[in-house]
Amino acid sequence: ARSAAEFVPEGADLAALRRAAAGCRGCELYRPATQTVFGAGPEDARLMLVGEQPGDVEDRQGEPFVGPAGRLLDKALAEADLAREGVYLTNAVKHFKFVPAERGKRRIHKTPARGEVTACLPWLRAEVARVRPALVVCLGATAAKAVLGTGFKVSEQRGRVTRAEEYDVDVIATVHPSAVLRAPDRTEAYQGFLADLKVVREHLG
Ligand code: URA
Repeated sequence: ARSAAEFVPEGADLAALRRAAAGCRGCELYRPATQTVFGAGPEDARLMLVGEQPGDVEDRQGEPFVGPAGRLLDKALAEADLAREGVYLTNAVKHFKFVPAERGKRRIHKTPARGEVTACLPWLRAEVARVRPALVVCLGATAAKAVLGTGFKVSEQRGRVTRAEEYDVDVIATVHPSAVLRAPDRTEAYQGFLADLKVVREHLG
């Protein structure tokens, strides 16, 4: 199976991991993508947020959560009294997977295949090992299944502290901010997302 493992330098700090990830060929997603979008944030962050994969804007800018989902996330973090500056933000998959659009149009996101998620996981493991956050928050099913196993159901288990044995870290899963943006009742979805982030705030103390 394809894997990023051989590209991950051992014992490297975040800056070195980021440089190495720029040249990752651990799966085929690097080909159409503009660049690797590695995690960003302080190495001593107590909170790590894990999304699915970079979106259209992130792929162009090279930073996680700087597009529409990121704006909603920023607002919710601020409302939950969690400062984005103190948070390490990353994604389960580090390249944007998309269906090409016509010139000038926003490209359409495609959910990464399980094999692409597992191929990319050595990067996330290295990030968690380096940052050692007090809590990891998985945003949406892709991140939650990547960290907590494919049996994890966000709809049933969101907003509760779970232990990820493999990563030796506490985890809370919630919905993805993009799902809030797409929800039929956006206000209700946003309130649910915010309630989960308040559990996060409580857990961090
Ligand atoms: N959605 C994600 O999951 N991650 C990003 O970085 C942006 C949008």
